[in-house]
Amino acid sequence: MNKAVIGLQWGDEGKGKIVDYLSENFDLVVRYQGGNNAGHTVIVEDITYKLNLIPSGVIRDKICFLGQGVVLDPEHFVNEYEKISKRISNPRIYLSSNISLILNYHKQLDKINESILTGDSKIGTTAKGIGPAYQDKVGRKSIKLYDLDNMISLKSKFEAIKKYYDPILDAFDENKIDLNQNIERLSEFYSQIKSLIIDNSFIKKNFQNKKILFEGAQGILLDVDHGTYPFVTSSNTVASSAATGSGCGPNSINYVLGITKAYTTRVGSGPFPTELNDEIGESLGRRGKEFGTVTARKRRCGWFDGVLVRQTIKIAGINGIALTKLDVLDELDEIKVCIQYELNGKKIDYLPSSSEDQFKIKPIYKTFPGWKSQTRGIRNIQDLPEKAKNYIYALEDFIGAKISSISTSPERDDTILIEDPFKV
Ligand code: GDP
Ligand code: IMO
Ligand code: MG
Repeated sequence: MNKAVIGLQWGDEGKGKIVDYLSENFDLVVRYQGGNNAGHTVIVEDITYKLNLIPSGVIRDKICFLGQGVVLDPEHFVNEYEKISKRISNPRIYLSSNISLILNYHKQLDKINESILTGDSKIGTTAKGIGPAYQDKVGRKSIKLYDLDNMISLKSKFEAIKKYYDPILDAFDENKIDLNQNIERLSEFYSQIKSLIIDNSFIKKNFQNKKILFEGAQGILLDVDHGTYPFVTSSNTVASSAATGSGCGPNSINYVLGITKAYTTRVGSGPFPTELNDEIGESLGRRGKEFGTVTARKRRCGWFDGVLVRQTIKIAGINGIALTKLDVLDELDEIKVCIQYELNGKKIDYLPSSSEDQFKIKPIYKTFPGWKSQTRGIRNIQDLPEKAKNYIYALEDFIGAKISSISTSPERDDTILIEDPFKV
């Protein structure tokens, strides 16, 4: 049975840890959207792996595939590949020939896009060129990996790109596109990674009766269609993207596992109804080590938002939930969960569509007593304090989905299984 693992909040839910945990039992692990804006940290014994583009299944030496829904920064990929090769010899990583590339001008354009926004309207992107690269893909201007096989047509594609972007780059005092330098760099990159590039029918041809794990990046609230637009990333992070982004049919995803923290975090700007700008927020950040893997920015922290997670569960067609970072709440006297919002004096049970309203809503909380004892490292549901169990069951009840596992530390094996993930 194939599974997709996706984030239900604003990213950084602990997808990497869960994918690593599950991948033991899969034949192929696939990334299908996003780029090196993602940062997945996996801790196995005393080794910390930080992955951006390469699926976390690589740690267990699984076959890994980056589908054409991914946007790939060549320089970054080569560095990440070299780094992981020091730990895993000859990692089996393959790239769809249809992948769109992130090139230097995308990073320049990302910077320009942010520079023309002011105050609260800045997105706070990772500055990795993600938005402009996806814009080019949809605008039919991408350089694809397969283009690197024909330097003559590549040059003519670049000439058109240069004509289009040079006036913009110039207007914002950015260097214009250097055609020869781009061609030279790409030609060198191609010689380094040529052997990893495969036809897009790879999965269909080789993994028909095998088990595939799809590793999502970001989270549903950052989805370009379903998230807190415009404070989102530029790809679809919902599970159906696993099909379009990897060249599989929608029926090849048999189970969608949603990952959610026991509280909420967000990096970058945008509405965050349950954000805590106080000592409790600070303590969640400290205990949860909430610093962005990609940009080292401090993550904003807040209470669990039940309204949002209930909504993202419906959007994503979730079959089960992995609840992470329960241990971060261990020391709190009381714990709050948002169960409704107030907008213009009225109570509402959903996230309003416009960001203006999303900034205005006020959370309405239900308060739970804290358990004030250590759950960190617990691997069996019976060993959890009663109050922690009550919190978990209340969340499950409110969000309307089965919590199938609970993570109690960054360590691979500090995971409570409620439902055997390898059987469903
Ligand atoms: P991802 O982007 O969804 O893969 O999440 P990140 O790796 O960016 O952020 C999650 C962070 O929390 C990582 O540093 C993990 O090592 C850590 N983590 C994952 N699960 C747990 C947990 O149950 N408890 C604690 N304390 N940390 C965890
Ligand atoms: P993982 O996979 C958390 C956020 C950025 C910014 C917005 C747009 O580790 O969960 P972008 O560079 O994508 O155009 O930035 O999206 N963002 C993430 N936040 N985790 C991520 O990935 C993210 N990827 C992008 O901070 O607010
Ligand atoms: Mg992350």
